[in-house]
Amino acid sequence: MKQLLIVAHAPSSNTRGLRAAAERGARHPDIEAVEVTVKAPLDAGPDDVRRCDAILLGTTENLGYMSGALKDFFDRSYYPVLEDKQGLPCALYIRAGHDGTGTRRAVESIVTGLRWKWVQEPLLLRGEWQDDFVDQVEELGLYLAAGLEAGIL
Ligand SMILES: Cc1cc2nc3c(=O)[nH]c(=O)nc-3n(C[C@H](O)[C@H](O)[C@H](O)COP(=O)(O)O)c2cc1C
Repeated sequence: MKQLLIVAHAPSSNTRGLRAAAERGARHPDIEAVEVTVKAPLDAGPDDVRRCDAILLGTTENLGYMSGALKDFFDRSYYPVLEDKQGLPCALYIRAGHDGTGTRRAVESIVTGLRWKWVQEPLLLRGEWQDDFVDQVEELGLYLAAGLEAGIL
């Protein structure tokens, strides 16, 4: 079984909906050979990263940056996984009330340092809430799980 790790901050009902959508996509019934683990960033750490074959990150933008919780996850995980997880397939969604660029830049810079591999452009869900955001994140979860199963990530 391949392991997909979803690490997503979800401080509101909208963002909890996004995290659930990521999980729903990743657990699509047609995908049989991928195990999905979903964690809040404060509950996730280097052991989870070591065990996974791909990672989907989710965060809000707060004060022009990723959530403190996701930053804490990186702070605790960065050096312990730096050597062993280069090339880890990764993707990101950002829920931002009005901007999102600072968060994107910050996560991209950390991912560059880790030498993880983007398998999709970061997904920026910006502005007023749209129900379509849920579908986009569900698709992203499905894409990652399907890609892992097919061995193309
Ligand atoms: C303290 C705080 C700071 C925020 N700062 C930003 C920001 O810098 N840029 C931005 O686009 N949105 C900002 N937001 C809006 C959040 O991104 C948004 O409320 C969050 O993603 C939850 O989405 P929701 O309102 O759809 O549940 C901020 C929200 C809070 C509570």
